Amino acid sequence: MKVFGVFAVILAVYCAHATVLFREEFLDGDEWTSRWVTSKHKSDYGEWKLTAGNFYGDAEKDKGLQTSQDARFYATSARFEPFSNEGKSVVIQFSVKHEQKIDCGGGYVKVFPADLDQANMHGESSYYVVFGPDICGYSTKKVHVIFNYKGKNHLIKKEIKCKDDELTHMYTLILNPDQTYEVKIDNEKVESGSLEEDWDFLPPKKIKDPEAKKPEDWDDRAKIDDSDDTKPEEWDKAENIPDPDAKKPEDWDEDMDGEWEPPMIPNPEYKGEWKPKQIDNPDYKGAWVHPEIDNPEYSADSNIYKFDNFGVLGLDLWQVKSGTIFDNFLITDDVKEAEDIANETWGVTKESERKMKQEQDDLKRKEEEEKTKEQDTEAEEEEDEDVDEEEEEEEEETKDELEEALSEMEEEEAKIKDEL
Ligand SMILES: *[C@@H]1O[C@H](CO)[C@@H](O)[C@H](O)[C@H]1NC(C)=O
Repeated sequence: MKVFGVFAVILAVYCAHATVLFREEFLDGDEWTSRWVTSKHKSDYGEWKLTAGNFYGDAEKDKGLQTSQDARFYATSARFEPFSNEGKSVVIQFSVKHEQKIDCGGGYVKVFPADLDQANMHGESSYYVVFGPDICGYSTKKVHVIFNYKGKNHLIKKEIKCKDDELTHMYTLILNPDQTYEVKIDNEKVESGSLEEDWDFLPPKKIKDPEAKKPEDWDDRAKIDDSDDTKPEEWDKAENIPDPDAKKPEDWDEDMDGEWEPPMIPNPEYKGEWKPKQIDNPDYKGAWVHPEIDNPEYSADSNIYKFDNFGVLGLDLWQVKSGTIFDNFLITDDVKEAEDIANETWGVTKESERKMKQEQDDLKRKEEEEKTKEQDTEAEEEEDEDVDEEEEEEEEETKDELEEALSEMEEEEAKIKDEL
């Protein structure tokens, strides 16, 4: 009996070891094309390119999938061994780099049930989870956390801000069997809580009792008129009185003009409307509170977190300005391992990536400064009035272009919201 107990414990520990369910870091050249399936639902999806981009921490390790054409939909996905997260945590993690200074576009992943038809994946394909950043214009810069519950998609009620710079950032979603969750950016917690509180999966626990009504005799007036207070006699003065200084004009003809009446003026003795003094109401019962009852529609569900058949991770996005690089996809049941892997990938290359970008920015700034200097000298030499006019025209054009781009962005934002 004892021996069996020990054996059972060893077995339990052994079975609780971490499982990486999906990992994709694009470290084997073009081989990724055999693992990822581009949807054929539309004929004009944007092309994915394998690249580390314009700046990186490691030219090989930082290679990821980049959106390469502007104003396109993108749809590709990869399959893994189906699993259920019953009784276990599940971590969904990946890195995103918007190196193009993104104006409008998705940076999120969708995780689908295993029965997804990858070749036909599209915006309406039903998914389990949407997670990751979404940027459009100045107003939308957030991290989506959407879960499907009984066939309906539910957006998180909290606003989680995403990163909007051009560097690589790690996004992590942890979903726990105790129905809590955590969102991390760059391995640091930015939000956490409980599924039931932060989404509207279930109807409210309590509702106002439809049977309860405020009693007719419920007195909720805190103050009432003092019945002992009476209007003083001198109060009774008219608001307006005939002007005592007015005189009938000498040429007033009673037959023609009717009886003369003096014009009315405000009465200087008028005291306004009289109101009795207010006293505490002895019958005051306080504000009536509608009693609540348990909502008959509500039933607790300890399996909101549970998805039986995880099987595909997909990128299904719209991007106005392309250039986003996705990398370091990971799905695991081990929170600590996900943190380790984030440290070993993004954590190792982020600093050299930042440096490389800094150097490029410095160089660009210097070149621009020199160009401006040259232009200034030329302009001085020419001393031509036409130059100013030309410049003004150019400014106007740029302004028009900007406005156009901005209104396009807003349209796209609406489109994306519809899709989600
Ligand atoms: C990951 O890196 C951070 C920062 O260096 C460190 O605080 C944390 O302990 C590391 N996590 C793991 C699991 O090693």
